[in-house]
Amino acid sequence: MNYHIVTYGCQMNVHESEKIAGLLRRCGYEQESGIEDADIVVFNTCCIRENAENHAFGNIGALKKLKRQRRGMLIAVGGCMAQEAGKAELLVKKFPFIDIIFGTHNVSELPALIARKQQEKKIVSLLADRAETEDGAEAFRTSYPNAWVNITYGCNNFCTYCIVPYVRGREKSRKKECILEEVRALIAAGYKEITLLGQNVNSYRDGETDFPALLDAVASVEGKFRVRFMTSHPKDFSRELVAVMKKHEKICNLLHLPAQSGSTRILSLMNRRYTRKEYLEKVALFKEEIADGEVTTDLIVGFPTETDAEFKETLSLVKEADFSSAFTFVYSPRTGTKAAAMEGQIPEEVSKERIARLIAQVNENTRRKSEAYVGKVVEVLCEDYDSKKGLYLGREPLGRMGYFAADQNCVGEFVQMKVTRANGVSLYGERV
Ligand code: SAH
Ligand code: SF4
Ligand code: F3S
Repeated sequence: MNYHIVTYGCQMNVHESEKIAGLLRRCGYEQESGIEDADIVVFNTCCIRENAENHAFGNIGALKKLKRQRRGMLIAVGGCMAQEAGKAELLVKKFPFIDIIFGTHNVSELPALIARKQQEKKIVSLLADRAETEDGAEAFRTSYPNAWVNITYGCNNFCTYCIVPYVRGREKSRKKECILEEVRALIAAGYKEITLLGQNVNSYRDGETDFPALLDAVASVEGKFRVRFMTSHPKDFSRELVAVMKKHEKICNLLHLPAQSGSTRILSLMNRRYTRKEYLEKVALFKEEIADGEVTTDLIVGFPTETDAEFKETLSLVKEADFSSAFTFVYSPRTGTKAAAMEGQIPEEVSKERIARLIAQVNENTRRKSEAYVGKVVEVLCEDYDSKKGLYLGREPLGRMGYFAADQNCVGEFVQMKVTRANGVSLYGERV
């Protein structure tokens, strides 16, 4: 039997889809296939912004016809949107042809839900909170040579715009030993890059072990591999973390540190718990200690009551913090969050104009910083072959994609590449 998984949202969801694939493979779905030939289609949804939800709704709705033609095909909807208050009911009402709805705490129960669906006619749904994490679900990994490794689940920060704490629940840290065992097994199996995942990795704690201590332990595992982590909340970003990054060559000197805004007043309304000045001090601390380090970020425009002057502070932060790139978003009100109920929602035209200006500023940084690579040699971890370009590709430690020609398959190898040309976040070069 075949399966097809549609994934929306963050790396967390990408990895959860690998766990879903692992579970499906253990209950008789052996082959990944196109949607048309699938015996089960799983939607792993996201609800961070309205357009993420609209995508999922559109694509689930589009399956109505296929489901009529192939009655035996199962449709399951899981992930953050399924967990959102009132959304499961809406899904049932709009798409009665769905078979299974499962929440963010119920991924490992998917096989049991599939078995139950064989017995029951109506939609089977499970959205219950559980004390355990998803440690039981072994992933069928698809991102070689990188491997995603969860260290925390959930979030306790309640930034006023954000739905994540409501749909992912309270923060839970995995046991240090479980994480280290997983990392050792992955390195032994040939993985070359470990990316530690959490909504706020800096608040990891297992007894005496905090995030810097965990990172130190992970980077101390023997073997040649890289370590990355995401995401780091600025309020908890510490000197100790910088010291561990400096100590280990394996840890990439790329810091993804979401600022969200350059205005202290907006940051306070967002409940981010740092000021513009404090944010810049953290960036400065990182750059002082790690000479070749680069910082990337997430930025939101059009948060309720944001004035043009406050938006300009975000623009100037891009220059001052010298971000090498940034994910930029128009604020999207999420039902149930504090910000959605605030006065002073910003009209769409205003936000659109602001984001265009912001993207132009970010692109200028990206271009300038990438062009500085021309002539240098970077180490690329080859991850794929682009058949259209006829080139291999992979990332350098600071996250840029490097493209180069090679006569034989080098996926999974560290390649020294001399950069001959830069284009945005892409570098082109020759193997040396
Ligand atoms: N836990 C991570 C972020 C996860 S969500 C962190 O705190 O850094 C990824 C990004 O989506 C956020 O950093 C934020 O920039 C954006 N985001 C979250 N909620 C949003 C909303 N309601 N509207 C627009 N962007 C949002
Ligand atoms: Fe959302 Fe804030 Fe938690 Fe990040 S830290 S997931 S933005 S509530
Ligand atoms: Fe989306 Fe959930 Fe990730 S809301 S961004 S998939 S944690």
